[in-house]
Amino acid sequence: MSRTVNILILGGTTEAAQLAVAAAADPRYCVTTSLAGRTRAPAPLPGLRIGGFGGVGGLLRFLHESATKCVIDATHPFAAQISAQASKACTAANLPRLVLQRPPWAAVAGDRWASAATIAGAAKLLRPEWRRVFLSTGRKELGPFAGKPNVWFLVRIVDGFVSDLGLANSGVIVGRGPFELAQERTLLSNLRIASLIVKNSGGAGTYAKLTAARELGLPVVMVERPPAVLGERVESTGEALRWLDRIHKSLAGLRTPASVRPK
Ligand SMILES: NC(=O)c1ccc[n+]([C@@H]2O[C@H](COP(=O)([O-])OP(=O)(O)OC[C@H]3O[C@@H](n4cnc5c(N)ncnc54)[C@H](OP(=O)(O)O)[C@@H]3O)[C@@H](O)[C@H]2O)c1
Repeated sequence: MSRTVNILILGGTTEAAQLAVAAAADPRYCVTTSLAGRTRAPAPLPGLRIGGFGGVGGLLRFLHESATKCVIDATHPFAAQISAQASKACTAANLPRLVLQRPPWAAVAGDRWASAATIAGAAKLLRPEWRRVFLSTGRKELGPFAGKPNVWFLVRIVDGFVSDLGLANSGVIVGRGPFELAQERTLLSNLRIASLIVKNSGGAGTYAKLTAARELGLPVVMVERPPAVLGERVESTGEALRWLDRIHKSLAGLRTPASVRPK
């Protein structure tokens, strides 16, 4: 019987990509990396498949047809729907599931952060004197900012997929992290940004804007993460690889024919 374990990595993050590359280099694993298809030209990844599964039922079908033995949910902390669906599908299929999620950022001395539970809540915290705001929340959920004609929003997106963001007054920049401090400082200064609206994504790749905001004394509205899905979780790819190793050992143990098992 083959010793290769089929694993599904739900991706869309740096950590998912790192994990996929590291796991695919190990002959014990056959990796499928799944992306939703939000970016037009994603970087090549091992076993890449693109597009939604079609809800919990579709994911269950995929898990069955691909003979997947375990799932690592390494999606973005704000991708709550796919995480909930993965949890339900793995429970129904009785498959081990691990959540790989980087820790959130925490304010340090000098930060001027206000916390919002949701993007809509963040929009309510906008102050009239903030005429130029860096909306660093991606292109999803811009609706709450649509009725703000007196504010110019700078929106950064990963690619040029969307032409109309539905904002009265906005500028768009296209950029994929990681972003350097000097670059973020220049961006905020040159565009005379008065405040930032940021999702608490965590990670080093997009942290520089927060350092730049601190240096420039700019207020930040920090949108906190949605409630985390239940289940075993780790914060690093190294820990996820150790989990995979344990899963592989337990599956290999299960597969050992009774006649060769140690008595
Ligand atoms: N939300 C963010 O701020 C953010 C930021 C950076 C990267 N991302 C990444 O972008 C992707 C989409 O995020 P989202 O917030 O739109 O997700 P979401 O709201 O949780 O999911 C919406 C739907 O997109 C599909 N989907 C999401 N992630 C998928 C994946 N990795 N593989 C296959 N299908 C997936 C699923 O469709 P079906 O129901 O049809 O299966 C899901 O129901 C995720 O991979 C996430 O890691 C998100």
